Amino acid sequence: MRDQAEALRRRLNDLTNLRETKSLAVVSGKGGVGKSNFSLNFAISLCHKGYKVLLFDMDVGMGNIDILLGKSSKFTIVDFFEKNESLKNIVSEGPENLHYIAGGTGLNRLFKIDRTMLDEFTEEFSSVLNEYDYVIFDMGAGVTEETLQFILSVDEIILVTTPEPTSITDGYAMLKHIHMQDDRVPFLVVVNRTLEKNDGLVTFNRLNSVTQKFLGRELKLLGMIPDDQSIRLAVSKQTPFILATKSLASKALMELTERYEQAKFNVMQPSNGFRFVTKLKRLLFER
Ligand SMILES: Nc1ncnc2c1ncn2[C@@H]1O[C@H](COP(=O)(O)OP(=O)(O)OP(=O)(O)O)[C@@H](O)[C@H]1O
Ligand SMILES: [Mg+2]
Repeated sequence: MRDQAEALRRRLNDLTNLRETKSLAVVSGKGGVGKSNFSLNFAISLCHKGYKVLLFDMDVGMGNIDILLGKSSKFTIVDFFEKNESLKNIVSEGPENLHYIAGGTGLNRLFKIDRTMLDEFTEEFSSVLNEYDYVIFDMGAGVTEETLQFILSVDEIILVTTPEPTSITDGYAMLKHIHMQDDRVPFLVVVNRTLEKNDGLVTFNRLNSVTQKFLGRELKLLGMIPDDQSIRLAVSKQTPFILATKSLASKALMELTERYEQAKFNVMQPSNGFRFVTKLKRLLFER
């Protein structure tokens, strides 16, 4: 009896100690529109504001975050599945107190795990998430049956598009696909690589009007980032562009982060890592 009471007390304690962890997925229809650069630099920008952020490289293929940081992580998510490494150990440290989980070829194993492994993963992930204010998933382009489960578990979805018509139509297709499964998760839009002042707004309005018309959904404009040589330069130097604070792109991203912080877009409060993993587990298991 005493054991039961003790277990109950511990469980209640665990639940009340849960930190508010907001989970975000950065997606796009078309590839190469700037998701990884946005995810990494937005994550660092949130770190600058004093938040604890975990960036998870979910590109099922080559890990990109390591490359953008000019690093080679000791462990990747693959080590969790293949070498029994604990999740806490595979978290790498980036600049400005950013923590990240590097991707790697073989990440797709994550989606083929059995029940025991899934339990282990979600339990460890839940406790890792409790250390952070934000977890940001940098997704690969498009969506697969498997990555969709991750996308459907987050609190907010950030769609990155450029002003190119193909990027807008592919972006819409992506949103529609997600909307068919979940018509409540908030959609935020970042227009990347704008060329002139009006570009971003025109692009957003175009996307928003189709979404309103066909999905009955309102999008929220998170911000715009200009096409900026300094991003190409930062990528080739393997340093995040936000660290060179004077560039146009950095200024735009800092403003965007400020707006994000003020706007409190999420309507599904309160959120925490526990909610995220519970949802993920259910979706992965129900497949
Ligand atoms: N605002 C920008 N201004 C100039 N160049 C940019 C900008 N954003 C991205 N780029 C360029 O686009 C390239 C691709 O960016 P990134 O790797 O972030 O795209 P991605 O959407 O993550 O691609 P993938 O779909 O392959 O994951 C970068 O290497 C950079 O050269
Ligand atoms: Mg990428």
